[in-house]
Order: sequence, then C-alpha cells, then structure tokens
Amino acid sequence: MVDEAFYSHPRLYDLMFPGGGPAVDFYRAEAARTGGQVLELGCGTGHKLIPIASDGRSCVGLDLSSEMLAEARRKADERGVVVEWEQGDMTAFDLGRTFDFVFITANSLLHLHESDDLVSCFRSVRRHLAPGARFVFDVFNPSVSLLAEADGSRRTRESLSFTDPDRGRVRVDVAETYDALAQVTRGTWHLWTDSDPDVLVAPLEIRSIFPQELPLLISLGGLRLVERFGDWSGTPFSGEAALQLCVCESA
Ligand SMILES: C[S@@+](CC[C@H](N)C(=O)[O-])C[C@H]1O[C@@H](n2cnc3c(N)ncnc32)[C@H](O)[C@@H]1O
Repeated sequence: MVDEAFYSHPRLYDLMFPGGGPAVDFYRAEAARTGGQVLELGCGTGHKLIPIASDGRSCVGLDLSSEMLAEARRKADERGVVVEWEQGDMTAFDLGRTFDFVFITANSLLHLHESDDLVSCFRSVRRHLAPGARFVFDVFNPSVSLLAEADGSRRTRESLSFTDPDRGRVRVDVAETYDALAQVTRGTWHLWTDSDPDVLVAPLEIRSIFPQELPLLISLGGLRLVERFGDWSGTPFSGEAALQLCVCESA
C-alpha cells in the first residue's frame, strides 16, 4: 500500500490525531444500541474500538498495518481491555463469522481507490453481517473548492502540530495534488522540528467519493443505504456537509 510509511509510526500518528471527541461518542452509542459482536475495519491504533470494548462489548479490529495493530494491542493490554486484533485487507476478507455491528471510520475506506475495490469491500462486509446487523461508515464530503486548492504547494497545517515528549514541537506540512480522473488526492506529508527537517516524509493518497456515486457503490456491494447524516449529531446530509456518515443494512 502506498500509505504504508504513513502508518508505520503509530506513536506519531496518535500524537498527531489524538482521537476522542464526537466520533468516538457516536460509534460507542451505535455499538451500545445494536448490541452483540462488533467489527471495525481499518481500526488503526484502536481510537474507537478500545473505548467500545471497554464498555464490555466483544470486538474484533482488522487492519492492514502490523505497526498500527501492535500499538493498538499495546494500548488495549495496558488498559486491561480485550480486543481480537486481526491483520488483513478490508478489500476482501473472511473472518468466518458474522457481526451485529460493522464500522469503518476516519476515512479509512478512502484508502481503497478503485471502485471495484470499494464494491469488493462492501460485499465482504455484507457476508459478515448477522441478520438485522448494521454497517456504518464515515467519509468526508468532497468540497470542490478544497480539492481545487490541492495545487502541489507545501502548506503548514497548524491545527495538526503537536508536542512529542522526545522531539519537542513537531510541525506538519502537506503538499497535495488532485487527480481528477482517479478522484484521488495525492499528498506528501512532512513532519519536522527545528532540529530535524525530516522526522517523517510519507505519501498519503485518499479517494474522494462524491455524493451521487456513494449509494450506487453501496448497492453494487449488496447493501442498502438506510440513512446518511452530515455530522455527528445526526443532521441530515446536505451538499455543504463536511461528512457523509452512512448507515447501511443488507439489501
Ligand atoms: C486514518 S486511519 C484510521 C484508524 C482508526 N479507524 C481511527 O479511527 O483512528 C486508517 C487506517 O486504515 C488502515 N488501512 C488502510 N488500508 C487498509 C486496507 N486495505 N485494509 C485494512 N486496513 C487498511 C491503515 O493501516 C490505518 O490504520
């Protein structure tokens, strides 16, 4: 995967994206509402799954990155929380059992660039849904003006800078271009400090899924889009919404 380097430094990832907030509250409440077995695809270091498991739910987390999974396992063990961590590719997977609540969050789904891969992922999800189960995922809603800003210039993302106990203040710059044919934003992320200009230099390539194509991909995957929200408080989706928060069932 092109984004492997980005996810090979999970401690930096967790400092840059500390987690918490309304997304965790939302998925925790959804897991409580559905009950039963929970599966997260692209679980990373467990920002959502560890809190859900700490509520007493039976959880499986699948991720492609052995480094992210190792950090997830370390954090869960430290907190005395039991989660089954599985290394695998969400494009096509077979865990040999079904779940009552499956979710993909924080744009993890957008690491799949080809429409065929997105459909294949949805088909795999469908095979893992128990009767009456729900599948929920969130992806950003592409903003044409923001995509147009991806002109290759290196820009500092002030809101992502963080303090690393070992390195001090770490700043984050991103240079991105938008490939309109592939619908993929191709970025290079630069993490740097005053004494080290190259703490981490890593590519990150993220697909855009536009509002009209999203239900079609879902239905090709054998699923049905039941609801689409535009934010974590349940506001109905609109063209200006930042988020496409999708609730699906088996078709
Ligand atoms: C943005 S992180 C999100 C992590 C976590 N869901 C969270 O909310 O913090 C995306 C994760 O997706 C994983 N990933 C990317 N492509 C994947 C694939 N094809 N199959 C499984 N995991 C994948 C990455 O390794 C990374 O851990």
